[in-house]
Amino acid sequence: MNTHAIILAAGRGTRMNSALPKVLHTVGGQPMLAHVLRAAGALGAQQHLVLGHGAEQVQAWLQQAGVAPTVALQTEQLGTAHAVQQALPAVPDEAQVVVLYGDVPLVSAQTLAALQGAAASGLALVTVTLENPAGYGRILRDASGRVTGIVEQKDASEPQRAIREINTGLLAAPAASLKRWIAQVQNHNAAAEFYLTDIVALAVAEGVDVRTVTAASAAEVEGVNDRVQLAHAERLLQLRNAERLMRAGVQLADPARFDLRGELIAGQDVFIDVGVIIEGKVELADGVRVGAYSHLKNVKLGARSEVLSHCVLENLDAGTACRIGPFARVRMDTQFGDEVHIGNFVEIKKSRIGALTKAGHLAYVGDAQVGADVNIGAGVITCNYDGANKHVTTIGDGAFIGTDTQLVAPVTIGARAFVAAGSTITRNVADDALAICRARDQKTIAGWKRPRKQPK
Ligand code: UD1
Ligand code: CA
Repeated sequence: MNTHAIILAAGRGTRMNSALPKVLHTVGGQPMLAHVLRAAGALGAQQHLVLGHGAEQVQAWLQQAGVAPTVALQTEQLGTAHAVQQALPAVPDEAQVVVLYGDVPLVSAQTLAALQGAAASGLALVTVTLENPAGYGRILRDASGRVTGIVEQKDASEPQRAIREINTGLLAAPAASLKRWIAQVQNHNAAAEFYLTDIVALAVAEGVDVRTVTAASAAEVEGVNDRVQLAHAERLLQLRNAERLMRAGVQLADPARFDLRGELIAGQDVFIDVGVIIEGKVELADGVRVGAYSHLKNVKLGARSEVLSHCVLENLDAGTACRIGPFARVRMDTQFGDEVHIGNFVEIKKSRIGALTKAGHLAYVGDAQVGADVNIGAGVITCNYDGANKHVTTIGDGAFIGTDTQLVAPVTIGARAFVAAGSTITRNVADDALAICRARDQKTIAGWKRPRKQPK
């Protein structure tokens, strides 16, 4: 049977206290909605999205993300049944419908697959038993344990409020039945809303066997209504990420202090120290080590490369056995050959650095093509910007750039050339040449008296 997922996301999300629509708030670096759409996609479901508050912003995101669910607009939020009703005309009668919430981002594929299976008979709900069920709809059962209905907190009697089995909101049913039941839902309740939950009693009245599926964990079906719950969802996702990576052979110094905001592809025996943030697509080959509090975004590191603590690396593709940091910053489409060493307080931007090249301390290398086995001394600066345009610095294999040198681009330093410390290089240097450019004579005044403070 064809599955269609209807994702409810029209609510205001008042408790987020935000200008951003709730479902665009991120978990693990991606909007909650992206997670829900992915879960629906994993079911092989056609996706329908019900939007209302912030619909334009959500649609702008959909476009930018390149996802195109069928969108139904619910201009007035008259309740969850009304919301589902907006999407139903686009769903064929023969389809199976799964209702998901845009603000329940971490529901597992396992739970949804079980829900899909259970709905074949008529109607299935995901429920969970909570220590504190306050605020949720309660599952009503008869003496034999059969589901008879759902009562919302607002409408529940004292004894009903004591029920700890709650409705997560996620349900599945054949489209034809769902259409028939929803058409009968009334809004005679404490909230004057059309409750989707009322379809349960309607199904029972038709003699349908309502099945329940227990969520694999309570946390995965916890809705996000405020930023505290958003932070809970974030931790849950990160712990899941951490466990998956550790089971696959990645060593995390502390799974509670690891953040993945994208995709990590890791080889064997990769070690990640505390406080590391992985963003975008990161590939770490066998034996790579990432030091504490480093931030890697769209980075690829060859086998046995090591990033020491407090590095910020973005759009870097590095070879094997490189050593980077501590406190290094690399960005914008940079490539390192094998065994490159970039030390503390070095910034590399949009450059290609050849194998075995070293820049150990306090340097800026931007828009540069640096050969192999080059030594870049402390304080070397590529002056790549003339105030209007960027220019390229080219350094040949085996060159030695002395400390505190400025290379005023465009400029080329030949292979094996030697630039003396403190030079300002404005003209090309030939292969094997020495270039020196500094004030010629050092003046030394013997017995010079330092200035003193005037006595008051
Ligand atoms: C709902 C359930 C409740 C369940 C709880 C689980 C109903 C009547 N109640 O209650 O049994 O325990 O979820 O979290 O269904 N939405 C719309 N349009 C609307 C109303 C809501 O799109 O007109 C969307 C919201 O954006 C949200 C979802 O539906 O994503 C749930 O709505 P919400 O108002 O939060 O329902 P609850 O009162 O929490
Ligand atoms: Ca809710």
